[in-house]
Amino acid sequence: MSRFDGSVVFITGSGRGIGRAIAERFAQEGAALVLVSDYEPDLRQTEKELAGGGTPVLALTADVSDPEQVERAVAAAVERYGKIDILVNNAGIAWEEPVLDIIAENWRKVMDVNLNGMFWVAQQVGRVMARQGGGVILNMASTNGLVGEAGYAHYNASKGGVVLLTKTMAIELGSSHIRVNAVCPGYIQTPMSEAIDSPEFIERYVREKIPLGRVGKPKDVAGVFAFLASEDAAFITGETIVVDGGQLAF
Ligand SMILES: NC(=O)c1ccc[n+]([C@@H]2O[C@H](COP(=O)([O-])OP(=O)(O)OC[C@H]3O[C@@H](n4cnc5c(N)ncnc54)[C@H](O)[C@@H]3O)[C@@H](O)[C@H]2O)c1
Repeated sequence: MSRFDGSVVFITGSGRGIGRAIAERFAQEGAALVLVSDYEPDLRQTEKELAGGGTPVLALTADVSDPEQVERAVAAAVERYGKIDILVNNAGIAWEEPVLDIIAENWRKVMDVNLNGMFWVAQQVGRVMARQGGGVILNMASTNGLVGEAGYAHYNASKGGVVLLTKTMAIELGSSHIRVNAVCPGYIQTPMSEAIDSPEFIERYVREKIPLGRVGKPKDVAGVFAFLASEDAAFITGETIVVDGGQLAF
């Protein structure tokens, strides 16, 4: 008997990076999956590999910043499985840009995916969970949602918003037996971070800022999502869990 046998997990941004590692972890522990991404090739590859291992997988192409696409994806998940037990609200984007240079289009894009998109998904899935009598919502924030980092004003503001969205939803939805928590990773090696930083930057960053002396791996984060979704976390809601190798201990 695995921890998530019989559970349905809806994971956004699950074609690659941390979202994919989370999908692998829940598959290993017996869950059925709904994989959602805006990038079809990665999504199909992840679907093929996980379904090949025997996991029930529904893969849906959708842009989380579009509430109508989110509504269709959530409806398709409910049609296929009849319920959603766990939401991993993970899809996000980031790039470096000085605060005085950010143009309106870029500010809106980051907010639309990282904050508005997270809200559309949490609200739609939250309605399903309220109807079915409970569930777990896990939002992907960041250490950048707790402290500032130069060059990421739009990203930091969006992730700070996710932290307070999480707390507010936890307060409102507790009586519906829905737990809502956020995870705040530090530096995790993924296609996103590799596209932003050079190996020299990463080496110096680790030396100066991360007490455990290495960057995080997607599976370091996936295990924390599995814990928060499990019965071991039954009395945890409205919390933000930092997964950063000690970086915020400074
Ligand atoms: N990598 C890090 O160091 C780090 C640290 C803290 C938080 N995070 C957060 O973790 C999450 C995943 O990051 P990652 O590093 O794995 O990134 P990634 O770029 O490797 O993967 C992101 C995934 O989200 C999907 N996606 C992007 N925009 C989307 C949209 N509009 N609709 C649907 N899917 C969309 C992409 O197709 C991709 O599959 C993000 O929310 C990110 O902000 C990452």
